[in-house]
Order: sequence, then C-alpha cells, then structure tokens
Amino acid sequence: MSEAIHSYSGFQGKKAVILGSGLGSLPDQFENKTIIPYEKVPGYPKPSVKGHSGEFVVGTLNGEEILAAKGRFHYYEGFDFPEITLPIRLLHELGISFVIITNSAGSLRKDYHPGTLMAMNGHLDCTFIEGPELPTINKKPRFYNSEILALAKKCSLETGVQIKEGVYCWTLGPAYETPDEVKFIQNLGGDAVGMSTVPEIQMAGKLGISSLGISCLTNYASGITKNPLSHDEVIETADKVKNQFSKLVAKILIEADTN
Ligand code: HPA
Repeated sequence: MSEAIHSYSGFQGKKAVILGSGLGSLPDQFENKTIIPYEKVPGYPKPSVKGHSGEFVVGTLNGEEILAAKGRFHYYEGFDFPEITLPIRLLHELGISFVIITNSAGSLRKDYHPGTLMAMNGHLDCTFIEGPELPTINKKPRFYNSEILALAKKCSLETGVQIKEGVYCWTLGPAYETPDEVKFIQNLGGDAVGMSTVPEIQMAGKLGISSLGISCLTNYASGITKNPLSHDEVIETADKVKNQFSKLVAKILIEADTN
C-alpha cells in the first residue's frame, strides 16, 4: 500500500492527520498538493459515510510534508478491526511518527457547547465488544501524552483557537445514544461520545506512532437538550468551525517534533 502513496506523491514525511466527518478542509491549505483517491491504493477500503470523501492528500505546510487521510472506516459500516486500523498500519509502513486523529463527537457537558474543540486526554470503551489485542502501555504512553497535550495548548494560545481537554467515550453506533446511555457515560466520566478513533489510537500506540486525538463537538449528546440529533447538524457545526479547526491542527502539525 505504501508503494502506491510513494509512487503517486514521492511522500517522505513523518506527520499525518486523519480527518473525520465534515472536517476535511485542512488540506485546502497545503502547498504542492497531490490527491490520491483511496481506490488508487490497492487493497484499501472505501468509506460510505456522508462527509467522508475517501482520499489521501499529500502536501506541505510551512515546508513540512504532511499526509492527510480524508475519510475513515467504522464498525457500523461493516468493517472489522483490521480494516478500521488499516490506515494506521499504512502510516506505519510509510514511516510516520506522529498522527493527529480527528473526529466529530457529541458533547456530554453543557459547558462544552457545540463547536468546541477537545483534545482527548483519555478514553472509555463503551462498545462492549470483546476487545482486540490491546497495545502495550509502556512508562510513557504515546497517546494521551502530557507533552503532546501541552503542545496542543501552546498552539491553541498561539493561534487564538480555543481547545479544551476531555475523555472521549467510544460507542459502536450507528444509532446515537439514548438519553439514559448518555447519563450512564456521564457517570463513568466521559466528556464526549463518538463512534471512531479509539481503535486507531490503540493501533498507533501499538506500532509506536505518537498520536493526538481531537474531537470537534458538533452537538449536545442525546437528552442534554430537547433538540433531536441529526447527522446534518454534525456536518453543519463541523462546517462552521472548519477554519478554526484547520488553523489549530495545521499549527500542531507544523510544530510537532518528530526527531
Ligand atoms: N454521538 C455519537 N457520535 C457522534 C455524535 C453523538 O452525539 N455526534 C457526532 N458523532
């Protein structure tokens, strides 16, 4: 798979970003862009969710080579763990050492209003499926790492784009949670809820790739307000914050130290 990326783009970088639902505008800022649709990469699956376009964009930001993956794979689309984590295994093959993994998520906190960006400082697995092999947690985990979170805060101050921190709770979907499930997850200590990212973070940790998870809180989770949830609201909020989001993510990618 990595040969296809190399042959289309000559990519030699160490940094990548996975862009979740409606958050795909960051590569608009890239220079020297090459677009590689997923179908050009032999063996690579194709996502089916609205707001996920299914392409790699290779380019530079401030002279740094970056690989962006627009579109990911979820359990609820019928993909299994090896398929969901294939993007991370591809990044590993390419020699990536830092990845930002983004998602849209529901907010479980009234003070994290829709449009809030949240750096993941932990996760809860509320899928209740038998888990795949878990990464070995060494003394200095490569995810939820305090140095990476500190970098996110520094870039937030320098760009003026606010970022909060919190615990992301992973659910299987595709249905949004019931209000009672939301109360349950709040009691467990979750700040946001979504249907992705955790398997990717686990696989990145296992393969020795440092990662930062960033959620765009697109809506209040079910039952927090009276408004019904919809995927259109998710896309609409992501669209409203996309410039702020891209500014912050670009800055973190530029500043991250991969040496
Ligand atoms: N729940 C689960 N996943 C989501 C949500 C939500 O409220 N919003 C965006 N992705």
